[in-house]
Amino acid sequence: MEIKKAKKLSGSLAIPGDKSISHRAIMFGSLAEGTTRITNFLEGADCLSTISCFQKMGIDIENTSGEILVHGKGLHGLCAPTETLDVGNSGTTTRLISGILAGQDFVSELTGDASIQKRPMKRIMTPLSQMGADIISINGNGCAPLKISGKKLHAIHYNSPVASAQVKSCVLLAGMYSDGITRVTEPVLSRNHTEIMLHYFGADVTSEGTTASIKPDPSLYGREILVPGDISSAAYFIAAGLLVPNSEILLKNVGINPTRDGILRVCKAMGAEGEPTADLLIRSSSLHGTTVEGAIIPTLIDELPMIAVMAAFAEGTTVIRDAQELRVKESDRIQVMTENLQKMGADIQATEDGMIIHGGKPLHGAEIDSHLDHRVAMSFAVAGLLCERTLSIKNGECVNISYPEFYSDLYSLAE
Ligand code: S3P
Repeated sequence: MEIKKAKKLSGSLAIPGDKSISHRAIMFGSLAEGTTRITNFLEGADCLSTISCFQKMGIDIENTSGEILVHGKGLHGLCAPTETLDVGNSGTTTRLISGILAGQDFVSELTGDASIQKRPMKRIMTPLSQMGADIISINGNGCAPLKISGKKLHAIHYNSPVASAQVKSCVLLAGMYSDGITRVTEPVLSRNHTEIMLHYFGADVTSEGTTASIKPDPSLYGREILVPGDISSAAYFIAAGLLVPNSEILLKNVGINPTRDGILRVCKAMGAEGEPTADLLIRSSSLHGTTVEGAIIPTLIDELPMIAVMAAFAEGTTVIRDAQELRVKESDRIQVMTENLQKMGADIQATEDGMIIHGGKPLHGAEIDSHLDHRVAMSFAVAGLLCERTLSIKNGECVNISYPEFYSDLYSLAE
């Protein structure tokens, strides 16, 4: 992909559906009785991997004009897959589906692409094993491919060492197939889409502080789900609108769940059910450095590559810390962002758990390697809008993981 400097950005954009919520709608719809109708589903490669896994377990999922219909078969209605489940590039699919598979009465295997085969799965194998699950890493390296022999599970109270919604969701889903109340406590609250949506489907899920609990054997019922726009996809346009001079853009229908709004901090929990959404009006602004650390990190974990680019264009120093999780995402995002921003002339240093960026240096186009990481590619596309020399992104098409229309949406706003 080649990105050229933009004079300004203007117009409005409907942000595509939320990736986390789209995955969960397919999974919970499959485990519910009756039909779940999903509108504004994200048809990115990751969510299509989730669909194909559940289809391989006998769930009828229809993709009709703009809507997905999931004909669920209830909590115990999945069939043994006749082939290995392919999760593609999707960590969410891998970790959530493992919690479900651990409680089935069949054996299954799952694997994915080269990136997924390097990502840490011990973080789910540990709690699942404590619940009595039989889950092994076939190559013995704590990564996929995984073999899971389903069992009746025991309820546990898991103290997770990481603030990870994927770990939390995995344990809660396994808890539905256990013999008591399963609890997960995390060091800092991570995104709570699983808790909200499972409750909506009829499960008895409660949350108190950073502990979520679920009662076993719920009856889940098919639901209507309107997927809000993905704030993690909106982040690139928020950044672009702020950074490119003379811009004003309207981003429509953005999900602003408080566990995801670290990038905005505009919304706080009001006890309402469902996912709050908003239209965001973004204007060019002169940005300055800041420190991003502590409890805000899980609420903007996927936006940190974009924040690193914003920091490189902002005046002064930005420090990002407590974000060691970036090292085990689709790429080592600390290393990849640092290397690529340095190629563009930025003053940035990697630290063990983040980055230190002295912003405001003039940046130039360069050849950027996305390392097949969709969030890296999109972050640098925004950087390219601000550079005199063309910026080219190797393997830029990996945006199809979470945002297939990304480049055309970006160009639709640029002059
Ligand atoms: C996700 C949780 C986060 C996030 C990922 C999606 C989810 O991962 O980075 O893109 O849908 O639960 P972790 O749980 O590993 O933090």
